[in-house]
Amino acid sequence: MTILEDIISRVEELNPIHAKKIRKNISGQNQEFLNKAENFLKDYMQFLTKHGKDLDYAIDCYLKLIDDMLYETIRFMTSKEYSNSSFQDVNTRIYDNPEVMEYHMQGLLLSQFLWIQHYKILEFFLENAPKHQDKTGNYLEVGAGHGIFLNSAIDLFSKVDSFTALDISKSSIEIAKNFVDSSKVRFVHSDILKFEEQDTFDFITMGEVLEHVENPIGLLEKLKSLLNDNGITFITTPTNAPAIDHIYLFRNAEEIREVIRKSGFQIISEIQVPSEDMTAEEAHEKGISVMYGAFLKK
Ligand SMILES: C[S@@+](CC[C@H](N)C(=O)[O-])C[C@H]1O[C@@H](n2cnc3c(N)ncnc32)[C@H](O)[C@@H]1O
Repeated sequence: MTILEDIISRVEELNPIHAKKIRKNISGQNQEFLNKAENFLKDYMQFLTKHGKDLDYAIDCYLKLIDDMLYETIRFMTSKEYSNSSFQDVNTRIYDNPEVMEYHMQGLLLSQFLWIQHYKILEFFLENAPKHQDKTGNYLEVGAGHGIFLNSAIDLFSKVDSFTALDISKSSIEIAKNFVDSSKVRFVHSDILKFEEQDTFDFITMGEVLEHVENPIGLLEKLKSLLNDNGITFITTPTNAPAIDHIYLFRNAEEIREVIRKSGFQIISEIQVPSEDMTAEEAHEKGISVMYGAFLKK
């Protein structure tokens, strides 16, 4: 049995409805996806062991994340708003709360090959980031979380001696330290809006952080101030994705582009990945979540 199959059958025992959703999600994927998933999951199993955990623990975390999302989704369907509006409140209840943050991050890590939007957005990064490899001497990741993008960046950006990974949550930093080759990374525990640095960066990655702040234009302006004039930024953010730590609601891709334009960035290339089997336009119309990713320049 493959590791992916093993995970889905364990999920099935605890949450059959969700297992059905995962099976549907991956049913249309080709052998290349399945091979990549298996390779990722082999490394992932080693990470769990290094972290002193096992697959049952990871699945327990993942299903707690799914329960939280279900609760937030039910609220969202009636209110049409995210349940959080205060960054300070989310910081105290979630980022600064090791118990919640541990299962939340472990759950998101396992979602990498169970949610097609997470898989495809990483593929988009892996295909396009190498175009900027030659002129990248230093690298910052904002809200690095579990470290999936960071891990890939360490492989891709061979000219970078030291990677900086910043996160507001100590729990995220601890998980990322186990997930990546941390000898090459300077970890910074800080709110990005309070981060001051003499140098500017050639490349900045910020996956799924824009929806975590009250003022996304202010956050992108902060990134601009940290980016060198010829630098590149890669961002991702979802539309209509209620979660325990999401604050700013983007209802469609145009709202995201508007925020990007207002902050003074230009879009080089972009991708939209619906979380269900439909076009991005249909998903926006129906209020189904779409993951948006873009490479930006000043
Ligand atoms: C959903 S996770 C994203 C993880 C990863 N970047 C990815 O794309 O999968 C969001 C991360 O951003 C961090 N974060 C949220 N607000 C932040 C802020 N103002 N400054 C720094 N990190 C922040 C959280 O602690 C969490 O680790």
